[in-house]
Amino acid sequence: MGPRRPPLLRLDQASRPPVDRYLVIGNPIAHSRSPEIHARFAAATGEAMEYGRMLVAPGDFPRAAREFFDGGGAGANVTLPFKEDAFAFAKRLTARASEAGAVNTLAATPSGILGDNTDGAGLVRDLVANLGLRLEGHRVLLLGAGGAARGVVAPLLALRPAALVIANRTAARAEALAALFRDRGPVTGAGLEEAGTGHDLVVNATSSSTRGEPLAVPPGLFAPGATAYDMAYGEAARAWLAEAARAGARTSDGLGMLVEQAAESFELWRGRRPDTAGVIAALRAA
Ligand code: ATR
Repeated sequence: MGPRRPPLLRLDQASRPPVDRYLVIGNPIAHSRSPEIHARFAAATGEAMEYGRMLVAPGDFPRAAREFFDGGGAGANVTLPFKEDAFAFAKRLTARASEAGAVNTLAATPSGILGDNTDGAGLVRDLVANLGLRLEGHRVLLLGAGGAARGVVAPLLALRPAALVIANRTAARAEALAALFRDRGPVTGAGLEEAGTGHDLVVNATSSSTRGEPLAVPPGLFAPGATAYDMAYGEAARAWLAEAARAGARTSDGLGMLVEQAAESFELWRGRRPDTAGVIAALRAA
């Protein structure tokens, strides 16, 4: 064997300025809209970055994430089913990530990989800034007690509702989740059949819609003028929102939350907040 020669740099690589690399990691990942959202943010702000997607096999998250960051990756979004793996992977956590028990945003920093969770802030921003809801003194019902629900409990309580009821098919899970946040506001846990009535906002954080399963909730959930919000978006959210509309609620799927959580991630990475309204409109139109 002759002496090792350095690899040839392709001309286009040599002449192009270095670009920070980001991606979204999940399984499945093919239909993620995050690459499109971040490409729009980058184009609008003039930030030099590229953003791809990475399919990772169950159990392979730590290796894949390590390889990406060791190779110079600047940041990643993490989606199902890896948000708890990302929580364990991060060397440091923001307060909201440790509270959520899950990480949806990783950032390479001089002091190691930082884990953040922008889901709750994204939901709140969509509710308050985009939908114009005022939750102070109002009744809020959160359906579900899994990872998606846990990430939004503290941000919802920060809006000072009169009551936040967490209702779940498995009541014990809802009670345990409520107990975690008891010192943050008036939160209680219950089974779905004890979800109560007259809620001003009902947020569906169960995975029933993405699984294509019906969500059996008792009648009377909605107060007059109430909003039904599904954290899923598009086709997955349609069945439950249609039922909510029949019960008289104003409805929204979670597309705005998706774009807003992305904007929060973008701001963490790039130090600038992109405009979201145009991106939400463009995604809706697509
Ligand atoms: P995620 O991270 O998406 O929240 P998870 O931790 O598996 O996923 O939680 C899924 C949530 O959706 C749970 O609250 C689950 O209820 P259980 O705790 O009783 O399992 C809820 N869920 C899933 N399918 C459902 C269905 N068909 N009807 C009602 N709730 C459902």
